[in-house]
Amino acid sequence: MEVYILPDEDAIGEAIADRIQKVFENNANANLGVATGSSPLPTYRALAARVADGKLSFKNAHFFMLDEYVGIDEDHPERYHNVITTEIASKVDVDPANVHGPEGNAPDLEAAVKEYDQLIKDQGGVDLQILGIGSDGHIAFNEPGGSLVSRTHVGVLTKQTREDNARFFDGDLSKVPTHCVTQGLGTIMEARELCLVATGAGKADAVRELIEGGISALWPATIMQMHPNAHVFVDEAAAAKLKLADYYREIQAAREA
Ligand code: F6R
Repeated sequence: MEVYILPDEDAIGEAIADRIQKVFENNANANLGVATGSSPLPTYRALAARVADGKLSFKNAHFFMLDEYVGIDEDHPERYHNVITTEIASKVDVDPANVHGPEGNAPDLEAAVKEYDQLIKDQGGVDLQILGIGSDGHIAFNEPGGSLVSRTHVGVLTKQTREDNARFFDGDLSKVPTHCVTQGLGTIMEARELCLVATGAGKADAVRELIEGGISALWPATIMQMHPNAHVFVDEAAAAKLKLADYYREIQAAREA
């Protein structure tokens, strides 16, 4: 994995937008994997600015979301499809019909998750996947203890994740959905490039495990160590527990020279 320790979230957003721009310069029909949460927001701002400036276009792109709540109202602002529309899709030139997510309200969820994996394949796969990481090492809604090779599936949200997300549901835990549909780690690993963002001291343990820990179901993101084209973007606070931080800085400087 390539590690980038950058001064702040805006620098991270620009660096990931650079990588996305390169992908779309090489292939105007590329597909982008999008994540919800706060980590990708600076990247989305950078992408929207580049599209407004005519430097980048998602006209022919498909966006694939990572995950969705089960049983959330279609018009709930926290429904991930609505979050992605608000934060990125409505601010760029992607066709709304090409923004896809796992369907959390399908009558047959087991069939729907299989169809989602198939749709990603049928569209040629994800070229670059943006990722955040939970403080417990989850990516998408792949919580600790799950399979490292899972496909898109129905998952149970941990109490920790539901408590973390209660702030988006009037602070009321009883309003937070109990289940989700999520791309599996095996699905995510098929994206041709992964760009993970982690900022703030709250992510320092997860970042240490992600980059320097052993691959383990206890820290699901560690499976990324097996990806041939994975990039991790962190700020100083998230990098604080890395033993080899100076070494990563040296490599980063050499790369940029
Ligand atoms: C988002 C997602 C989650 C978040 C993670 C970090 O679609 O699946 O894995 O990326 O919980 O969230 P933030 O970025 O809000 O810290």
